[in-house]
Amino acid sequence: MTPVIEAEDLRFCFEPGREVLRKVSLRVLAGERVAIAGANGAGKSTLLWCLLGLHRAEGRLRLFGLPPRQARSRVGVVFQNPEDQLFMPTILEDAALPLINRGIGQEQARERARQALAAVGLESEAERPARRLSLGQRKRAAIAAALACDPELLVLDEPTAELDGRAVRLLAAVLERLPVTMLIASHDLAFLRRLATRALILRDGSVLAEGDPERLFSNEALLEEAGLI
Ligand SMILES: Nc1ncnc2c1ncn2[C@@H]1O[C@H](COP(=O)(O)OP(=O)(O)O)[C@@H](O)[C@H]1O
Ligand SMILES: [Mg+2]
Repeated sequence: MTPVIEAEDLRFCFEPGREVLRKVSLRVLAGERVAIAGANGAGKSTLLWCLLGLHRAEGRLRLFGLPPRQARSRVGVVFQNPEDQLFMPTILEDAALPLINRGIGQEQARERARQALAAVGLESEAERPARRLSLGQRKRAAIAAALACDPELLVLDEPTAELDGRAVRLLAAVLERLPVTMLIASHDLAFLRRLATRALILRDGSVLAEGDPERLFSNEALLEEAGLI
């Protein structure tokens, strides 16, 4: 089966001579939930942007066997700040918008948006604007907007940032039930431990370790080296 993501020796710098990603390799297979863990500044967001083709990295990169830009419609992205994705009068319209932008009719778009909101436990909030919702609900609404197009890969950047414990547990429970391949950048080890089927630890733009989340995240020396504790 073609891997969902196949990246080999990715290198990227914002400024000449200062590499932010140094030979990062990564493979994600269908059905996996892969964590990119690392301290602030480790390069997690930059790696996600490179994988999405939003930054042009050196190295070999394929999504579903294609150059990333050609695979864009198969990927749902949830950026760190849900406000970037939610600005319509209701979250139903926020979730329907990407479908309408793809030429899907109003009725069908709204129906699929409703299903996506139900998948994240927000069906009863569908007619409310994002600004009236809690941060945890807004995060889930942004996930619904990404899910509405039925992506084969869901990419999430710091999905638990600034959430309280209860909202984090609810979010993990919602994501756990979604039958979609995931790539999750986060420094929230408890969250990743619950959700990820495999983990990569980034430090200073390099892969420090890769493997079973339970094993990596219980290795205190490794976490210390990664700046995660
Ligand atoms: N737009 C930018 N211009 C220059 N340097 C940047 C930019 N964005 C991020 N960086 C630098 O790249 C490194 C990795 O950042 P980032 O990918 O945001 O890390 P993380 O998501 O793991 O916190 C940091 O040293 C950061 O300062
Ligand atoms: Mg980041």
